[in-house]
Amino acid sequence: MSTWNPSSWRDFPIKQQPTYSDADHLKRVTQKLRELPPLVFAGEVRSLKKQFSDVVEGKAFLLQGGDCAESFSEFRADNIRDTFKAMMQMAVVMTFAGSSPVIKVGRMGGQFAKPRSSDFEEINGVKLPSYRGDIINGVDFTEEARIPNPDRMIQAYNQSSSTLNLLRAFANGGLADLSEVNRWNLDFVKDSPLKEKYEDMANRIHESLSFMEACGVSSKNYRTLRETDFYTSHEALLLEYEEAFTRQDSITGDWYDTSAHMLWIGDRTRGLDEAHIEFMRGIKNPIGVKAGPTMEADELIKLIDAVNPENESGRLNVIVRMGADKVGDHLPALIRAVEREGKKVLWSCDPMHGNTIKSSTGYKTRPVEAVLGEMKNFFAVHKSEGTYGGGVHLEMTGKNVTECTGGAFNISDEDLKSRYHTHCDPRLNADQALELAFLIADSLKDAKQA
Ligand code: PEP
Ligand code: CO
Repeated sequence: MSTWNPSSWRDFPIKQQPTYSDADHLKRVTQKLRELPPLVFAGEVRSLKKQFSDVVEGKAFLLQGGDCAESFSEFRADNIRDTFKAMMQMAVVMTFAGSSPVIKVGRMGGQFAKPRSSDFEEINGVKLPSYRGDIINGVDFTEEARIPNPDRMIQAYNQSSSTLNLLRAFANGGLADLSEVNRWNLDFVKDSPLKEKYEDMANRIHESLSFMEACGVSSKNYRTLRETDFYTSHEALLLEYEEAFTRQDSITGDWYDTSAHMLWIGDRTRGLDEAHIEFMRGIKNPIGVKAGPTMEADELIKLIDAVNPENESGRLNVIVRMGADKVGDHLPALIRAVEREGKKVLWSCDPMHGNTIKSSTGYKTRPVEAVLGEMKNFFAVHKSEGTYGGGVHLEMTGKNVTECTGGAFNISDEDLKSRYHTHCDPRLNADQALELAFLIADSLKDAKQA
């Protein structure tokens, strides 16, 4: 294999990139980005990798979630706070009911670039370049908005930086304190049938905490009861941006992409001899690779050899996103190949991207039933293969949106229009996400008993 450097991806074919019309402008911006402080530090990234390796060994569970696409217009503290709360709530359900530590990774603080199934979008006979995420162009359906502008990378960095700052404050400043378990319940979930189930659990947690406090163990003297680790991640799609944040760690001499703790490659850009694999193989972060229904077993093994030649545990997360009705047929062959070759893989399930449909009212949606179905089938396959399904990867928000149908409030095709706010794919709202968390907790408990 040729030698790697942060720009060696430029020698490979690449998909899903914008064409910037002004090369000098692009150069000025990426030069500026290179000088900006890193968003994360190598030591944190190494801690996350260590935690990923705990998952590989079946000792923890990975919860990864957030927007399909973060946006400049929806950038508000309450959005960040509510997604943080919804994830804390899911995590505590899985930890308490599933007896498993949960590693929390947000699709936040950098999730701006989107791969698209078509280069163009056509509405009423007007054809414009597709929206590719706020880091690249604008979502408005006008010629001007759709022109890629390098300055958007600076704005994405600034927004990521503020988001991360707030997440760190939430994680370490009191909001993550376990005694706050009731405060994580978002207002609209209080009207949900899940309310009782959650409050019942919260009461039991309070009881346990009171008992422990009487024994001298409380959030005042134990950091782990008071704080949490919350990591960031996004799809490493826009390589001009990722390269600019790829820095050499002064302690180890290794290269880290410091734009997030974890990065992943999408299902459309995971071609073996292509730029994204080349870029990812050289950075030391834990990385993910999406595996859709077209992923073949031998292709997966070659991909693993390319990005994790030393078979390091915690380095690679295979994010399975086949669709509820396909995962049972396609996943076993992948697992068997990985087991046969002795590869260390963190298997997680993205039950969103293989279950996208068009509703009768014209909205892109996902039935919660299919989301829960894919998750169940994913666990069932792992159970029958004797392996560990160790994570979930979700598009979700803490806001009371109506983007996915079904769930406890039984959102219908008609209801979708009332609060359909996503800039890209439909997300679970906090109530739907909580339902999924209870399902996962049951499977974790089941796996523990087995
Ligand atoms: C995504 O995670 O938003 C995405 C585009 O996923 P995939 O690459 O699996 O289609
Ligand atoms: Co998406």
